[in-house]
Amino acid sequence: MKVLLIGSGGREHALAWKIAQSPLLDALYAAPGNPGIADHAMLVEPNVEDHAAVIAFAKEKAIDFVVIGPEAPLVAGLADDLRAAGIATFGPSKAAAQLEGSKGFTKDLCARYDIPTGAYQRFKSAEPAKDYVRAQGAPIVIKADGLAAGKGVTVAMTEAEALAAIDDCFDGAFGAAGAEVVVEAFLDGEEASFFCLSDGKTALALATAQDHKRVGDGDTGPNTGGMGAYSPAPVMTATMVERTMKEIIEPTISGMAKDGNPFSGVFFAGLMITAKGPELIEYNVRFGDPECQVLMMRLKSDLLPILYATATGTLDRVDAEWRDEAALTVVLASKGYPGAYDKNTPIAHIPEASEEAKVFHAGTALKDDRLVATGGRVLNVTALGKTVTEAQAHAYALADRVEWENGFCRRDIGWQAVAREKV
Ligand code: AMP
Ligand code: GLY
Repeated sequence: MKVLLIGSGGREHALAWKIAQSPLLDALYAAPGNPGIADHAMLVEPNVEDHAAVIAFAKEKAIDFVVIGPEAPLVAGLADDLRAAGIATFGPSKAAAQLEGSKGFTKDLCARYDIPTGAYQRFKSAEPAKDYVRAQGAPIVIKADGLAAGKGVTVAMTEAEALAAIDDCFDGAFGAAGAEVVVEAFLDGEEASFFCLSDGKTALALATAQDHKRVGDGDTGPNTGGMGAYSPAPVMTATMVERTMKEIIEPTISGMAKDGNPFSGVFFAGLMITAKGPELIEYNVRFGDPECQVLMMRLKSDLLPILYATATGTLDRVDAEWRDEAALTVVLASKGYPGAYDKNTPIAHIPEASEEAKVFHAGTALKDDRLVATGGRVLNVTALGKTVTEAQAHAYALADRVEWENGFCRRDIGWQAVAREKV
């Protein structure tokens, strides 16, 4: 099979690494890719925003299957255009990608199909939103409706914070994404991400993970795209997994199909495990980044036939097998991230991979044949261990061998699981 992978982050490096191990693979291309992905794939030109160029490339190279990593091309309808051109594609349609692209869309789906989530209302102007906040009181959560690179959510502990967040949204802090606002009840509990595949009819549960969104140790400081993750998430006991499938995932898949937007691809539920059980915070219509890196380390099965079955409506014929070990990834980011940071800082050394550990590339580039950091999140140091505690020790030992002066990382990735393992 000839495969084209779309994307350039740590998530796509992990996907490329795993797809490259498939005996079914004849050739792997990546657009635009990154220097880590280049170890497993040929990096190719077509501009991902130019759908006609991607299709022309796929036809020229007789690509059998396109795998789309990030959300932006999905929300832009790249999967629809590729499928319309007769090319098998892993990734949801633009209509189904609204599960991530519009928080209001997802909340309305939850309301229609009785999926547990925080009580909410949607607003197109500030005053009624503020009246609702005053009536509900704090804590309360204010969300820009659209894609805001993970920054459109304010968990307001006071009413004043909530009112200010509403003004920010309608004043354009998140551009068009903030033209509509969802105000949502605050949910209290432990968070987990639950990954699933769907071919529109069948859902296949993959694995659970926990992300670390805040930039600082002890979950402090501003939100980021994710500073580290581990899998499995111990809060997701067998009972919680079963309840999540029955109460959240299955009604979502059948509801999306009933509404004429069958979902095909991978999605993950951001869950809050509250005293009542699992409640939906949000959906994402792709693998999480960096959660994908830990899932790929733990996946025993060949990834390629699983992705292909998802894309071609035969998910009921495949299964995914997982290692019992835990995996943990630590994100090395440029000093200053998620604020301003220097670009093109040199990375002098990245330690070799082993079967149990690997450094995935995210925001790296080659400048004059030297590896430099170009992004906020730059490397994902990922390792396996018998426990999260052990995986954490392995990952930090490896991270400490990376030579990159302008890099930093959180030192406590996995702390919740490590604390549980101590008990
Ligand atoms: P999101 O971008 O929707 O994932 O939200 C970012 C983060 O905000 C989540 O990971 C949660 O930590 C927090 N959050 C979002 N919605 C709620 C809610 N209803 N209650 C409590 N925390 C929330
Ligand atoms: N790490 C969170 C995300 O990919 O959305």
